[in-house]
Amino acid sequence: MAKTLWHGRFEGGPTEALQALNDSLPFDRRMYREDIAGSQAHVSMLASVGLLSEAERDAIAIALDRVRAEMDDGTFVFVPSDEDIHTAVERRTTELEPAGAKLHTGRSRNDQVATDLRLWTKAELRGVAALVLRFQRTLLAQADAHPDAYLPGYTHLQQAMPVMLAHHLLAHGWALSRDVDRIIETVRRADVSPLGAGALAGSSLPLDPDHTAAALGFAARFENSLDAVSDRDFVADSLYSLAMLGIHLSRMGEELILWASQEFGFIGLDDGFSTGSSMMPQKKNPDIAELARGKAGRLVGHLAGLLTTLKGLPLTYNKDLQEDKEPLFDAVDTVRLTLLALGGMVSTLTFHTDTMAAGADSPYSVATDLAEYLVRSGMPFRAAHAVVGELVRRALSGEASLPDLVAGHDGLGPDAVALFEPGRSARGRTTPGSGGAAPVAVQRDRFAARLDTDELRLGG
Ligand code: ARG
Repeated sequence: MAKTLWHGRFEGGPTEALQALNDSLPFDRRMYREDIAGSQAHVSMLASVGLLSEAERDAIAIALDRVRAEMDDGTFVFVPSDEDIHTAVERRTTELEPAGAKLHTGRSRNDQVATDLRLWTKAELRGVAALVLRFQRTLLAQADAHPDAYLPGYTHLQQAMPVMLAHHLLAHGWALSRDVDRIIETVRRADVSPLGAGALAGSSLPLDPDHTAAALGFAARFENSLDAVSDRDFVADSLYSLAMLGIHLSRMGEELILWASQEFGFIGLDDGFSTGSSMMPQKKNPDIAELARGKAGRLVGHLAGLLTTLKGLPLTYNKDLQEDKEPLFDAVDTVRLTLLALGGMVSTLTFHTDTMAAGADSPYSVATDLAEYLVRSGMPFRAAHAVVGELVRRALSGEASLPDLVAGHDGLGPDAVALFEPGRSARGRTTPGSGGAAPVAVQRDRFAARLDTDELRLGG
């Protein structure tokens, strides 16, 4: 019977039910690289303060490398008493090298697990941000591929004012820039080493937490050992960043679903990124976009779940905190998959630009431009709004077409009728950041520059 880590104090062994509930190995084993890196740093620190001889340090380091190699190539054999990844690594290291029994000097799984998870989070979130950047480049490529296309812009899902297609695509792109920002900030906050806090109160041994922090590439070490082992803000920050990103993908998904419908007909889906129906032979379904919409619920749920777990927890470590990992791992996996699939879907879309233009060229979408035409001749906007509103009402009631009514109106006339030329309204807007052709070209370059900057911020 393998020994538990706490066998000295106990006469009886753990029950099956306890183990089944208590063990975190099934999910925390994916942090084995971080766990071993943390142990390597700890060993180097212990030697630097004289708690390990150089020979012991080197022997334990070699054993840890071997454990990593066994885990890398799948030859590592777990045993039933391996409650979590920390236990498994230490057990096997000590089997390989008796000096491994000194590995846990001045250390607890409480500071160890917090260290592992921070290392894991930093690396994985950077990977997610890199995928977001790739997705943004896909949006930019589609914008660049359709420089002349325009479509109706909507409020209340009612046609409002026409905009360039690039403007619409980049709107989603800028939302994703905020996600990249949030992820980088989350990584910055996670970049604090808890190692050296011990179980909760530090140690009577001469540990050097600055040494381990530097060895692991952390920007700083903890300031307070109690806070160090109980703080999971970085997990909540991560789950919020991922949920917000998921919500952006969900909103994009919803639009793709609408646009692919027969009613809109704005886009066609590539076969590789759409599905058929088992019964209705004519169907081509936007499942990826629907899953992007659906997965957001799961991501929000992970955030709500973790916040609920943390609420009311007394200092310091409580086993409740073991519930931090599964939602975080799942959120990262979910977002990665969604970014890849939705990115593939967007990169292979066919845009039916004629259908979009036909919607945007409805005479009624020019109404705001007509009011602004009157404003240019000195009319107060409120009065201009009323004038055009009345023409729209008369046109809708069947009296005459809107362009004919505009042509016959004193303050408007033939010059104003030119505003109905196809695409003119969409292209014509000039204010900074607006949906017209000239400002969108400026915006496009600023967006591309932003992607380059963010790539540098992420380290190339
Ligand atoms: N498996 C634990 C977790 O994930 C590691 C820390 C256990 N600490 C303890 N005192 N039982 O949180």
